[in-house]
Amino acid sequence: MRTHTRDPQTLGSAGTLDRMARILAARNIDPAAVAALVDEPDSFSPLDALLAAMPPRYQGAVADHPQVLDWVRDVAQQAVAPSQGARRQVTTGPSLLMAGVVGAGKTHQAYGAVRQLVRTGVGVRWRATTAADLYADLRPRPGVDSERELADVSRCPLLIIDDLGAAKASEWVEEVTYRLINRRYNHMLPTLITTNLAIKDLRAYLGDRVTSRLAQMTTRVEFEPVDRRRHRPAA
Ligand SMILES: Nc1ncnc2c1ncn2[C@@H]1O[C@H](COP(=O)(O)OP(=O)(O)OP(=O)(O)O)[C@@H](O)[C@H]1O
Ligand SMILES: [Mg+2]
Repeated sequence: MRTHTRDPQTLGSAGTLDRMARILAARNIDPAAVAALVDEPDSFSPLDALLAAMPPRYQGAVADHPQVLDWVRDVAQQAVAPSQGARRQVTTGPSLLMAGVVGAGKTHQAYGAVRQLVRTGVGVRWRATTAADLYADLRPRPGVDSERELADVSRCPLLIIDDLGAAKASEWVEEVTYRLINRRYNHMLPTLITTNLAIKDLRAYLGDRVTSRLAQMTTRVEFEPVDRRRHRPAA
């Protein structure tokens, strides 16, 4: 789970609240939903907390792609209890590279997969970002510890990297992506990656070191070449 229930007193100082507001804004989490979580901690289930952290467009997303459902099962099976009797947590697991045209349903399946995983009852700390937003967050700038941010994203037990390949290519983008993917590869952390690019274009965009790791750590999921924003499937 990505948001945590805390004793309101621990949120007391103005500095802490400011920092929290910045973190929530950076992760596109609605502060009102989190405030409700803090005010009424007992009324929120892990699924409610999960929904609070999801963009409204994908809150109802249901994963139905067979390979995505297989991934959910595999990750849930590999979850480990940190101590006897404790809830099993996602630690390591396989990853997916979901490739398809604009509007094919990749982001829908990614959020649906996280939702399905939470429904299995395992605990999971997760984050979702577009690659473009991630690069913007990681740009070195005054007052921001971008190395710390990279370390946090790299270590997050489950990460959605949406739209890999959509940001402008540069040596810096290639290096940051390499550092992120290499850490997740080494630690075998489950990662859901979506992209509009074909593998050969991903290689040209990110270089061999990243694509070689992705080839080993991910299962490739292909989507029907239909833009679901324009063409609704027949009922
Ligand atoms: N299985 C599905 N059932 C119902 N609606 C869906 C399904 N898959 C996708 N959609 C809807 O279709 C639209 C496009 O889906 P989505 O945003 O996931 O596409 P995408 O492949 O991520 O596109 P892009 O490459 O532009 O990011 C969204 O409104 C989404 O809610
Ligand atoms: Mg998308």
